[in-house]
Amino acid sequence: MQTFLVTGGMGFIGSNFVLKACKEQWASIINLDKLTYASNYQTLAELEQHPDYTFVRGDICDLELLKDLLEQYKPDAIVNFAAESHVDRSILNPHAFIETNILGAFRLLEASRAYWEKLLGQKRDSFRFLQVSTDEVYGSLSPTDPAFRENTPYAPNSPYAASKAGADHLVRAYYHTYGLPTLTTNCSNNYGPRQFPEKLIPLMILNALNSKPLPIYGDGQNIRDWLYVEDHCDALYQVLQHGRIGETYNIGGNNEQTNLAVVNQICTVLDQLAPKANFQHAELITFVKDRPGHDRRYAIDNSKIQRELGWEPKESFASGLLKTIQWYLNHTDWVEQVQSGAYQAWIEQNYGDRNSSTAV
Ligand code: NAD
Ligand code: DAU
Repeated sequence: MQTFLVTGGMGFIGSNFVLKACKEQWASIINLDKLTYASNYQTLAELEQHPDYTFVRGDICDLELLKDLLEQYKPDAIVNFAAESHVDRSILNPHAFIETNILGAFRLLEASRAYWEKLLGQKRDSFRFLQVSTDEVYGSLSPTDPAFRENTPYAPNSPYAASKAGADHLVRAYYHTYGLPTLTTNCSNNYGPRQFPEKLIPLMILNALNSKPLPIYGDGQNIRDWLYVEDHCDALYQVLQHGRIGETYNIGGNNEQTNLAVVNQICTVLDQLAPKANFQHAELITFVKDRPGHDRRYAIDNSKIQRELGWEPKESFASGLLKTIQWYLNHTDWVEQVQSGAYQAWIEQNYGDRNSSTAV
């Protein structure tokens, strides 16, 4: 069996990838994660005794640690999920985004290059470095623009998107300059179990359950292309196995929706699964001050990954959303843990000065 060094595997997408990798025996997993506010050790508690899983707490900016781990575990691939990932936080405090997303990616590339250059034969030929990136690097689309393709020029608009773009450029340079066998994926908005409730879908689910306002930025007409997280994990595995080195692959859900439409669907499901006695959940919808520089629309053209690797999204939005909401309803302990401590301070900082404008 192969060995993957996964970074950021205690976060939302990383934890779903690690669980799937262990369940479907894709590889032995070494999970390197700093355990920032966005992660929770309990997320992968079920893997504690798993023979193919090892957790290491550490920072991708720590070059000596990276070198030691590569020497010790001799992975066949590195999958870099580790990042600061929330756009609103990058607007309020970009520093950590530059540190982890750019400097951390650089250190990981440096350690990988030193390791890969010493490998021989088949082990060297089959090694892969996979950078898990985002569609936000392409900027914002108008309603009539064609969807992002792999050759759409980079035009990041938030400090988060700029930091991811910086890392992607470094990955590209390490392939072209040193021949490091890299792969880059640019994915649209994920949703599913284990997402930290600062992002739209889990925030709205939990606020609605607690009868709190559902804060929609601006006019609610911004569009995102939603992909169920397990579909993303399958795509990443296909790219690792069969992607052409040096290439980038866009990954999306073929599922463009306005934020208002998404929140209304959450409310409808909750009206059925967890009805309130006196009101419908959609009555909690509140329009608040917009996010600065808020990208209007993202859309992904999946044709390259579909044509070359045969991947396409399987989960419908209706079934994926139902699974997601059920997961949050069934994991109240996890929710309580992630909402303790610094979470409350973040909610106050981000939403405290966004005066509500209209209640629907
Ligand atoms: P997340 O914030 O849920 O998880 C990030 C994880 O990285 C956390 O476990 C955190 O502890 C860890 N981490 C942060 N800094 C670290 C460091 N310096 N060293 C080691 N670990 C560190 O993020 P996510 O939503 O799971 O996103 C994972 C990756 O996928 C990110 O690179 C993100 O840019 C990308 N991505 C996310 C989405 C999405 O919709 N969530 C879409 C496309 C791409
Ligand atoms: O497109 C991929 C990106 O998707 C990833 O790279 C990022 O890591 C991930 O966070 C996500 O970025 P977004 O900014 O699109 O996701 P977020 O969940 O923060 O917001 C989704 C949309 O919902 C966006 O238009 C802003 C809006 N929104 C968000 C929050 C948190 C609201 O209207 N209200 C809110 O309270």
